[in-house]
Amino acid sequence: MSLFNLAVLISGSGSNLQAIIDAITNGVLENVKISLVISNRDGAYGLKRADNSGITNLVIDKNEITKLLDTLEKQDINGIVLAGYLSILPPEIIKTYSGQIINIHPALLPLFGGKGFYGIKVHQAVLASGAPYTGATVHLVDSGIDTGPSLVRGVVPVHANDTAESLQERVLEVEHFILVKAVKALAEGRIEELKSNPVTIVNKSDKQGILDYAKGLSELGEVLAKIKHNDR
Ligand code: GRF
Repeated sequence: MSLFNLAVLISGSGSNLQAIIDAITNGVLENVKISLVISNRDGAYGLKRADNSGITNLVIDKNEITKLLDTLEKQDINGIVLAGYLSILPPEIIKTYSGQIINIHPALLPLFGGKGFYGIKVHQAVLASGAPYTGATVHLVDSGIDTGPSLVRGVVPVHANDTAESLQERVLEVEHFILVKAVKALAEGRIEELKSNPVTIVNKSDKQGILDYAKGLSELGEVLAKIKHNDR
């Protein structure tokens, strides 16, 4: 079977990149090869992770659109993962790789997504809102910011003593898990399936809590209606 060539785009630490590398190494992701790691930031630690695993990596500025397109094309890239890529992808790339680009976001989209919701700011906003649950979402990338259809979500409870940092840490763990699931679906050609039936992963011990929360939301109506609408 031929290998699925993945490009992973990063800007920072690259722990999500590492999760994909590890899943390939331990056989969870079969037939997937990370052919390329691209960072828009020089010195991003993710570049070192790529080096450590012998993966071709380079820095390309977000304004070097032709270079970015050429580099992806030369490597016969089949799918692109935005793993903490803190830049908006140029429309040319989104068009060329339509349906083949996924992004990980550290909240339950469409909540706490869009312009200005990145990094620690997302978790600060979740805490300020008083929401008892948050999580992470892998979604298909379209031309908007965090607006593409959700594919896989992981739910994380907010604890009374959480700080934005402690929440970020727990959400990141779930990100690593759901991202690998989504990459597997991408490589196996199951994105359409997930688009119509997104998967939500809830820890067994949190199940009753999230059910109560969902019930409360549905009684309130509005937020849940928006989520449902977004999934169709
Ligand atoms: C993650 O929280 C991801 O959801 C967000 O940026 C962070 C990147 O973390 N888009 P890392 O670089 O993968 O460690």
